[in-house]
This record gives sequence, structure tokens and C-alpha cells, in this order.
Amino acid sequence: MTKTAFLGLGHYVPSKVVTNDDLAQMFDTSDEWIQQRTGIKERRYIEESGIGASDLAVPAVQMACKNAGIDVSEIDVIIFATLSPDFNFPGSGCFLGDKLGLPGVPALDVRNQCSGFLYGLQIADAWIKCGMYKRVALVGAEVHSTALDFSDEGRDVTVLFGDGAACAILGPTEEGNRGVIDVEVHADGSGAKELWLEGPASAYNPRLTHEMIDNKTVYPSMNGRHVFRWATAKMPEVSRSVLERNNVAVADLDWVVPHQANKRINEFVAQKLEIPPEKVVHNIQKYGNTTAASIPLALSEAIQEGRAKEGDLVLLPAFGSGFTWGAALVRL
Ligand code: UT7
Repeated sequence: MTKTAFLGLGHYVPSKVVTNDDLAQMFDTSDEWIQQRTGIKERRYIEESGIGASDLAVPAVQMACKNAGIDVSEIDVIIFATLSPDFNFPGSGCFLGDKLGLPGVPALDVRNQCSGFLYGLQIADAWIKCGMYKRVALVGAEVHSTALDFSDEGRDVTVLFGDGAACAILGPTEEGNRGVIDVEVHADGSGAKELWLEGPASAYNPRLTHEMIDNKTVYPSMNGRHVFRWATAKMPEVSRSVLERNNVAVADLDWVVPHQANKRINEFVAQKLEIPPEKVVHNIQKYGNTTAASIPLALSEAIQEGRAKEGDLVLLPAFGSGFTWGAALVRL
């Protein structure tokens, strides 16, 4: 039976390093508070205005293709997961296709925030299994730094997010013991306004006003404790569901590569699932939360560092704005 294999991964982060101390120069926070509550030490920001999520994605896709042993021109379709598209429309996938020199190659944007990579993976898996496409570039890329409130008011959100991109090249395999085993995703819009970016909004006429800028509705807002509670409940729940459906014991897992929203959340999740801490991959300390890019970025780094390798059994759980959440089980 055809399965969907991770043929190669790649990632890219901009060069500008912003430490917790750098943020503490701009608003009332501290390295100690940020590290204690989140595990984050630094994050990356784009170097200058004019760099969008699709620009960060270009080197990530190139690296993923190299690792997959394919030429960029062999990509059949782009799935671009992001909550920070370069522009309101068209989608970042179209910009990326143009920058990669792929005229005519279809491009689909997925707007599912921190779970975007998992939603994209489920779509790619279905396409590949039914024989529609053979080389899917699944991208997660974000530029958060241009929509953060660098004042005391926005500090709870601003300290969390960073810019970055990653890509997985997915394709069919007949090797029965390799590939995507299962992907389960969920959404519950009753929590939509607990973590959202309200403006500019097509629900308002005009979409953008001076009041919206003055009231800071052009920055993301979050009910942190509420999101934390949901994340620590839903990530273990959906992980258990995927493991049980596939008769996989926690002890069989080689790695858990969770969405990197908060190190404490992932420690809670590991504790609830009784996963030993050394099997959980963290890179939030270097990059903060890069939403749709975070899972493929952490997986790509773990492979590059020689930690995760072909044949390893990996669980990928996520929770984020929407609310959306999910988990994937993959044999690399
Ligand atoms: O990927 C998307 C999903 N997002 C998440 O999963 C985020 C989930 N939430 C969280 O990770 C945590 O709720 C935060 C890290 C955002 C906040 O941590 P917390 O332990 O829940 O803190 P809190 O919001 O309850 O705030 C505690 C205190 C407050 O001060 P008072 O009222 O106790 O005096 C805040 O004003 O910490 C204060 N605070 C800060 N202090 C220094 C909030 N943000 C900061 C800050 N620096 N950046």
C-alpha cells in the first residue's frame, strides 16, 4: 500500500537574533520571567521591512529539496501553512511558487495557525495516497515580528513569537514500514477570540481605521492562561487518540516533536503522556514560537543534528489559535 514519506526536510531563520534582554530594553519584562514562564532565550526577526513569509520559505524549500534528492522543478504542488501571509491576498503559496520559478504549479494556503503543518500534512497525505501528486512541498513559514506590540501592554504575546520557515518534501513510498501512519486534526471556534488578530478585518467597514491602530486591535491578543489550559488538555488527548488507534505504546516512540509554544506546555504534555523528557525535542529556546513553522523547524533541526533519523517513530502534537489542534504519527 502506498504511504506518504518525509523525503527531506529543510529550514531557514533570519539572521537577526533578538534576546530577552533586547526586549527588556523596549518594555517591562525580564530574561528571568521569560525563561521561567516559557523557556525562550532568544528569537529571530527579519532583518528589514519587505521580507515576507514566502521569502523565508525559499531557502527552506531549497534545503528540503536538496535533502530529498530532488530538484526544485520537480515539485508538483505547494501547501503553504501560515498565519502571517505576505499580503491579504493572494496567498503566500503563489508568491513562493513565483520565487521558486514554478509557473503553473498549484499552491494552496492553509490558515490553521499552530496546527497548520498538521492540517497540511493530512491534505498532502490524502493527495499522495490517491495518486494525485508525487512531490508535495509542505511549507510552514511566519513573519510575526511586524505585528507585535513592543510596549508593556503587549508584552505577554510579544515575548513569545519569532520569525522562521521550514519545509517538508513529501512523496509516495511503497516501503511498508515508513511514512505517515496517521494524522488527526480538530477545531473549536468557540475559542477563536481567545487568541486572535482582529484587524484589519473584512467584517468591518472600513477594514482599518485610526481607532483600530490606537486601540491596538492590529496586534494579536491572547488569553494566555485559558490557552495554556486548553493546550495542556487537548495535546495529550489527541496524542492518546492517535497512539491508541494505531496500537502504538508511548514506549515505542523515538521522539515527540511538539509545536513549540511554551516549553512548560510541552513538559506538561510529556508528563501527562508519561514520555521521558529526553525524547521530547525543544528548540523554542532559540526561536520562540514560530507557529506553523515550529514542528517542521524542530524536526528538520533534529534530523540535521543527527538526533532523529530514518526509521524513527515520531509523534507530532500541536495546539493553537482557532482553537485548532491535532497530532500526527510518522515513521521517518
Ligand atoms: O502557539 C499558540 C498557543 N499559545 C500558547 O500556547 C500560549 C499559552 N499561554 C502561555 O504560554 C502563558 O499563559 C504565558 C507565557 C503567555 C503567560 O504565562 P502565565 O504564567 O500564564 O502568566 P500570566 O499571564 O498569568 O501573568 C502572570 C504575571 C502577570 O502579572 P501580575 O498580574 O501577576 O502582576 C502579568 O502581567 O506576569 C505578568 N506578565 C509579564 N511579566 C513580565 C505577563 N507577560 C509578562 C512579560 N514579562 N512578558
